[in-house]
Amino acid sequence: MELIQEVNEFVRELSEGEGTGHDYYHALRVWRNAKEIAKDFDVDMEVIEISALIHDLIDEKVELISKDELIKKLRDFGVEDKKIQQVMDVVEKISFSKNIPKDELSLEAKIVQDADRLDALGAIGIARVFTYSGKTGRPIHDPRIKPILDKRIRSKTAINHFYEKLFRLKDEMNTQKAKRMAKAREEIMKSFLEQFYAEWEGRK
Ligand code: ADP
Ligand code: NI
Repeated sequence: MELIQEVNEFVRELSEGEGTGHDYYHALRVWRNAKEIAKDFDVDMEVIEISALIHDLIDEKVELISKDELIKKLRDFGVEDKKIQQVMDVVEKISFSKNIPKDELSLEAKIVQDADRLDALGAIGIARVFTYSGKTGRPIHDPRIKPILDKRIRSKTAINHFYEKLFRLKDEMNTQKAKRMAKAREEIMKSFLEQFYAEWEGRK
């Protein structure tokens, strides 16, 4: 089997059915986004594709496998050590919560980070917010709890998460293409919220 196909199958086996929005199909969408963004750049496509596929496997929120086991697996697939290092560097640096300064990211990391963030926006992004909120026992909305713009806090309601994190992602995108895609996805989220408040107040 071809390497990327092998990694793909491995990620499917580990993350299929994961319930916090980091399931196999999240990995697959990030992989597609990453390939689309990477077209504009002269980058190591294999690093991009492997990183995108495995990016959430060792995340502390998900922890589907340990870092050592993951490295061993990539070796078994025949990925050379230098490439494994590049991949692990991408995976470890892109998480939103770590908030690593842009100048410490490789171009590959910047692209995969944008691809991952895009999947938190748009119609899919809306679905993921409510999945995550439900899974962690947070309410949909509480008008008494106002959004707080502080990266260290975890949103207390699903609706606040749009303001506390999601609407800030567009400006933090590393690449122009991702910024454009983010803008379109934001429009969908904004019309969703308009309708949401209208229904909340019984106006529609
Ligand atoms: P990833 O690691 O895939 O970049 P996160 O783990 O930060 O993303 O979040 C996964 C999904 O859950 C995202 O779509 C995000 O918007 C959503 N999410 C994260 N934290 C919260 C929260 N406190 N409330 C609601 N949704 C959240
Ligand atoms: Ni992710």
